[in-house]
Amino acid sequence: MKPRDRLRIAMQKSGRLTEPAQELLARCGLKFRQSRDKLFCFGEGEPVDLLLVRDDDIPGLIAEGVCDLGIVGRNVLNEFQFANPEAGAGLDELRPLGFGSCRLSIAVPQDEAYDGPAQLQGRAIATSYPGLLGEWLRVNNVDAKVVFLAGSVEIAPRLGTADAICDLVSSGATLVANQLREAAVVVESEAVLAGHRVLPSDERGEIAELLLRRLDGVIQVRD
Ligand code: PRP
Ligand code: ZN
Ligand code: MG
Repeated sequence: MKPRDRLRIAMQKSGRLTEPAQELLARCGLKFRQSRDKLFCFGEGEPVDLLLVRDDDIPGLIAEGVCDLGIVGRNVLNEFQFANPEAGAGLDELRPLGFGSCRLSIAVPQDEAYDGPAQLQGRAIATSYPGLLGEWLRVNNVDAKVVFLAGSVEIAPRLGTADAICDLVSSGATLVANQLREAAVVVESEAVLAGHRVLPSDERGEIAELLLRRLDGVIQVRD
């Protein structure tokens, strides 16, 4: 790979984190010219460009060095680290960003009682987060079957493919709409700035440090 002299930040192309992430970068003084295909935004002032991608791809892009930083949910970052321990070990949550707060939770059918993790023993749980769920099951000494679904996890109990789910809960509307209720929180999440534990030692590292300082200023003002 050719060395880059411009810093590259990955963020969600379209979704809940897109607008607040763009707003945050604007408040840090960054301006972008959007390209025609809208996947790459060229930075106009500072040498910082944006890559608009699927949120789930962001940790991998940073690990591979395609991007230097990423704005992504802690849930996505931590899941990547469980699934790819080696590549994930070099990544770190550099700053919590204070938006996009949600929970990765276990939910059960509304009419079912839940009196603790032991109740999930031997049951099937559908999730897009097998790493984080697997760790929670291990810590809670529960032997359950993890059913991987990339999306529409909340429909699994009604289809009979799982007894419970482990998915993100924000407003709770999705759970209600699917006659499910939150039973246990696995991870408290929010948007974070992800990056390599050690910043590049060249110009990109200097730009990244400048950005972190501006970010701290913006976050402090907001608090
Ligand atoms: C998440 C999650 C639920 C929904 C919960 O999906 O998978 O479907 O949000 O939010 P609520 O409690 O406010 O209803 P989202 O659309 O954010 O992302 P995804 O496309 O990666 O599933
Ligand atoms: Zn996603
Ligand atoms: Mg969803």
